Amino acid sequence: MKPAEKEAESLRMKRVQEIFRDPEVAACLEELRVLEKERIFCRHDLDHLLATARLAYIFSMERGYKLNKTLIYAAALLHDCGKLQQYKNGTPHHTAGAEFAKRILSKYDFSYEEKERIITAIREHRKSGQSSDELSEVLYDADKMSRNCFSCPAKEECDWSDKKKNLTILW
Ligand SMILES: [Fe+2]
Ligand SMILES: [Fe+2]
Repeated sequence: MKPAEKEAESLRMKRVQEIFRDPEVAACLEELRVLEKERIFCRHDLDHLLATARLAYIFSMERGYKLNKTLIYAAALLHDCGKLQQYKNGTPHHTAGAEFAKRILSKYDFSYEEKERIITAIREHRKSGQSSDELSEVLYDADKMSRNCFSCPAKEECDWSDKKKNLTILW
């Protein structure tokens, strides 16, 4: 990729960068990283968030959805931030995450409609068959498909059914 192309993409992804650099988001990811350090099951770290973003973007392209890349990455980066509140007070993380995302997105240049779509996708990211639009659908699928069950040492103890686990490399 040429430097000019990289520069153009970085301008298009400016709002994603702002979310990633947001102090509240950075603090949340760091707290989660420490809390999940010894966790043997799936973690909710940056690797997972980015794998989810990239897969969701692939799914969007493969399905011909033409979703805005910034919206996909914003939703994926924020979708598990509610996990911290779930650890602290038991609030389900899709609910806590939707509230968290609402606060973060309001600091940056997202339209009302963009915010609503991202927040809805986060709220729906744990329930199959309930996607209200294409963004919700690709986020749900990418979140599940991002997990490398085929190489997970905790595969036997995991409560995902064999049907839900990713036992071969597909994407
Ligand atoms: Fe989640
Ligand atoms: Fe997730």
